[in-house]
Amino acid sequence: MGIVDALGADVTSTRIGQRIAHHSDLRRQCGLAQYAVAEAAVLAAVPARLDAVAAAALPCAAMTAYQAVVRRLRVEPGDTVLVTGGAGGVGGFAVQLASLAGGHVIATASTWNADHVLGLGAHEVFDYHSEDIAALVACRRLVMVHLTGRLVSGRFLPLCQIGLLLWVRRRSGRSG
Ligand SMILES: NC(=O)c1ccc[n+]([C@@H]2O[C@H](COP(=O)([O-])OP(=O)(O)OC[C@H]3O[C@@H](n4cnc5c(N)ncnc54)[C@H](OP(=O)(O)O)[C@@H]3O)[C@@H](O)[C@H]2O)c1
Repeated sequence: MGIVDALGADVTSTRIGQRIAHHSDLRRQCGLAQYAVAEAAVLAAVPARLDAVAAAALPCAAMTAYQAVVRRLRVEPGDTVLVTGGAGGVGGFAVQLASLAGGHVIATASTWNADHVLGLGAHEVFDYHSEDIAALVACRRLVMVHLTGRLVSGRFLPLCQIGLLLWVRRRSGRSG
């Protein structure tokens, strides 16, 4: 999160003084620097109603969810969407985006997070501690955003009811 201080010669997509947020390149330094150089194309304008702390929280978790739900899985009205880890950082955004896209959203979460996840737009919440999620969803054709380390198992995948699966997980020490 920052304020545009200077522009390259051909940049027209933003302006000096614009509040912007972006996800810096994890392979490079500068995320916490006072000044940083970024491609104009990766900057998102921050609306006035959004404070700096909320804006800074968006690019990583929310963009990950956006890429999964909107760009990759292209959730549409009528899709049944399973979001594992629906109360988590990425999952909370995935639930909201899938619900906004018109999907019927099933989320996994601990019981104490169920009301929170329902409030984000989930239609059904199952506690992964006590429920057999694979059995519960076995009869449904799913779009699945998988955000936890387990569940995609030799038992789950061969059910072949999954239309699309995007597994977001940590790769080589980095989120991927
Ligand atoms: N956060 C980011 O900005 C980001 C960006 C890119 C990629 N990622 C990747 O996305 C994945 C999720 O990250 P996150 O930040 O959203 O994680 P998180 O905030 O820690 O949330 C993960 C959720 O998973 C649930 N969970 C834990 N163990 C589980 C299990 N055995 N079975 C089912 N659910 C379980 C927990 O739900 P309850 O609390 O309800 O028990 C928890 O809320 C990770 O692989 C991460 O590396 C994250």
